[in-house]
Amino acid sequence: MAKKSTFFCKECGYENIGWLGKCPSCGAWNSMVEAPAASSKKTKAKSNLMTQSWVNTESTGDIIDLDTVASTVADRLLTGNHELDRVLGGGFVSGSLVLIGGDPGIGKSTLLLQVLGHLCDTRRCLYISGEESPAQIKLRAQRLGLNGKRIRLLPTTDFNAIAQQIQRDRPDFVIVDSIQTVYVPEITGTPGSVGQVREATAGLLRLAKHTGTTIVLVGHVTKEGSIAGPRILEHMVDTVLYFEGEGMQQYRILRAVKNRFGTTDEVGIFEMTGSGLLPVPDASTVLITGRPDNLPGSAVTSGIEGTRPLLLELQALVSPTIYSQPLRMTQGLERMRLSMLLAVLGKISGNKIGQYDIYVNVTGGLKIRETAADLAIICAVVSSIKGLPVPQDMVVLGEIGLAGELRAVINVEKRIQEAIRLGWKHFVIPQANFKETSKLNLPKDCKISYVTSLSKALHMIFSH
Ligand code: TYD
Ligand code: MG
Repeated sequence: MAKKSTFFCKECGYENIGWLGKCPSCGAWNSMVEAPAASSKKTKAKSNLMTQSWVNTESTGDIIDLDTVASTVADRLLTGNHELDRVLGGGFVSGSLVLIGGDPGIGKSTLLLQVLGHLCDTRRCLYISGEESPAQIKLRAQRLGLNGKRIRLLPTTDFNAIAQQIQRDRPDFVIVDSIQTVYVPEITGTPGSVGQVREATAGLLRLAKHTGTTIVLVGHVTKEGSIAGPRILEHMVDTVLYFEGEGMQQYRILRAVKNRFGTTDEVGIFEMTGSGLLPVPDASTVLITGRPDNLPGSAVTSGIEGTRPLLLELQALVSPTIYSQPLRMTQGLERMRLSMLLAVLGKISGNKIGQYDIYVNVTGGLKIRETAADLAIICAVVSSIKGLPVPQDMVVLGEIGLAGELRAVINVEKRIQEAIRLGWKHFVIPQANFKETSKLNLPKDCKISYVTSLSKALHMIFSH
């Protein structure tokens, strides 16, 4: 009989019996890859676990009354790293399967080795590495100051060897670095292919639930090629964390995009140093430090990352273009958003924006995902065009609508309070936020200016 195979979307895991140019589920183009369907009984049983992982093997299939289910308080493994614990909602939950994704070199292995160094004093831990040799891991551990710690390594990529060790050894905490190197011999396909990654993850999920071991999978984000990205695993695991950060910048953000044991709002901020990833508890101060005094092309806004407010500096450089199509370069924000905001600015101010190349940057390597920073982006640009600085103690907030109106931002009180804490005194915010902010207990030397439109805001900010 001919071997059956199925096609999976690399982006979202959508399954189809035939190849499709466009994934009907997530809309990605050319993302379907072929993977062999489960053929033997053994592998079929494993595949079922992908969707029924929580079902105990002793389950009789009887209906149960939810009221009679004993509620348990999840045992948590605190990592000793405040930022990571916060993102996880209070440490790793025992028996959970966690996926940490991110670009290669962003610091996944570094962070997890640090966590292992902390946990191995009190818990049984195991570091399974298919990516680096024991000698490489030793070097890294020395750099991280983990000499003398009893860290146990299992250098293998064979899924069966991993499963046997976990069942025999019953560790509390296991790191699999990375899931794309694990190989299930019963399944065809090279390590890292969709079928392999899915089967290995399903097997590890079963192990985690049966043995009560917390298993952390490292997954590289890959957009091209035959290596399956961690996105197809998102629905199988309990928690998904993603590392973000701009290439060479030292700050890294760890974001929970799925968490069965906590909120998905939280973010952790880390700094990559010579001795590993260090948590940055007071990120606002760090991000704003070094801002030049009274220089044009810079504006400060108060953003919200997860549930915490964070002061961010936007920088813009505007210079006459030599190209027929002017350049729009951004770092840390969407280029399309900048183009849209520039179109609004051009319309309301009559400025010939098309004459300029415009570069906009979020300092510290952070990414802006909210529209509340619109006004700050445009202020930085206008400041650079006019050669006039935004007043040094001013924080600007507001979403810009297509008609040039300023729209309300959420959590405005939190944003203002964070800025006050760090010594900012003057806030330019949308009139639509008057209700929430009029009750704020401001220090005497602080003031809030309310504006209804972008043109009024620019007039107020640059007419000093
Ligand atoms: P790594 O944890 O290997 O990334 P990933 O596992 O996500 O691929 O991080 C490697 C990078 O971190 C590498 O570029 C060197 C840097 N690094 C430091 O700056 N300081 C350190 O103490 C360590 C261990 C790594
Ligand atoms: Mg690594």
